[in-house]
Amino acid sequence: MLKEIIIEKIKNHGPIPFDEFMEIALYYPDLGYYTKPDTKIGRQGDFFTASHLCSTFGFLLSKQIENFYHKLKCFEDFTITEIGPGMGYLAKDILETLSISVKYNLVEINPSLIEIQKQNLNHYLDKTNWYKSIDKLSPFVGVFICNEVFDALPVRVFEINTSTEMMEVYVDFKNDELTETLLPCRDETREYIEEFAPWILKIKGYRSEVNLKMKSLIETLSEKFEKGYVLIFDYGYLAEEYYCSERKRGTLLCYYKHTINENPYTNIGSQDITAHVNFTALKKWAEDSGFECVGYFSQSNYLISLCDEKVLGEIYQKNLIQHFKRLVLPQGMGESHRVMILSKT
Ligand SMILES: C[S@@+](CC[C@H](N)C(=O)[O-])C[C@H]1O[C@@H](n2cnc3c(N)ncnc32)[C@H](O)[C@@H]1O
Repeated sequence: MLKEIIIEKIKNHGPIPFDEFMEIALYYPDLGYYTKPDTKIGRQGDFFTASHLCSTFGFLLSKQIENFYHKLKCFEDFTITEIGPGMGYLAKDILETLSISVKYNLVEINPSLIEIQKQNLNHYLDKTNWYKSIDKLSPFVGVFICNEVFDALPVRVFEINTSTEMMEVYVDFKNDELTETLLPCRDETREYIEEFAPWILKIKGYRSEVNLKMKSLIETLSEKFEKGYVLIFDYGYLAEEYYCSERKRGTLLCYYKHTINENPYTNIGSQDITAHVNFTALKKWAEDSGFECVGYFSQSNYLISLCDEKVLGEIYQKNLIQHFKRLVLPQGMGESHRVMILSKT
């Protein structure tokens, strides 16, 4: 069904840029991977995230949130806001372990996920509120949480054709199948490459992604965010690691029933499509829109830094040590996942 919609669009208007294809595949109303009624994350879905793996992640974040709460001293106004909250497990784990009483806002685009989140948070309905997008929020003070959301934003894909010629991947329909075609880069894509990865211009055939949606999301967030801290968790790299000469085919991956493939043109609407986050670009755009970047860590270093003797004791006591290891060990999420902390004070 989604495939037919894409084909129809191409037949009527010509090839579409890759980000437009990805937007349809993931977010087309009622049919996209993240907007369809039966979206599931975790064991019954296609991939695990930290919050769907175990409650340890939420338990540790609640320690950080309490620390921010006391630092900010805005006790009356303090709210937690989470974007893309999945099944609502992180919200539940945080609310279950917090020793302070706060409001928790959930920004969710999928109505059926809102229902699942309400079921999972049924003990906390007096503290929780749902919003369809960030721009529907009233200006707020507190903590904003974003776990594996930026990697799910539609990306542009570019390819260096001959030396220094920047082309963009468009999706076409030929010989009865979706195919790729290269067209000259749009200005914003070109400007991004020149700013964040000029060294790859010399590498013929180099292909990677550009995530400009991240810029608009952080700008909208900044308009609503009065004071506090933003916690961003995602897999990604700084620009030098992201656009290194060895990573010639980019980071675009698809997740389908807990297997990984590199073909976004199969299972359209039934598989996740993701790209790593360029944390250098994220930091730049966040600072340009009024945030200060106060930290950038591997998930491992960050979560371990939240553990004092008492917290470690609780992890042992609650029998959470195996899960804790998956969150922090390099062969788990410890090194692939990074944390960026932004602040406005
Ligand atoms: C990979 S899932 C992560 C879900 C959850 N945070 C977790 O860690 O399990 C990405 C989520 O981001 C959501 N998302 C993407 N863009 C969004 C936006 N502009 N507003 C709200 N949610 C968004 C998607 O709908 C999806 O639920």
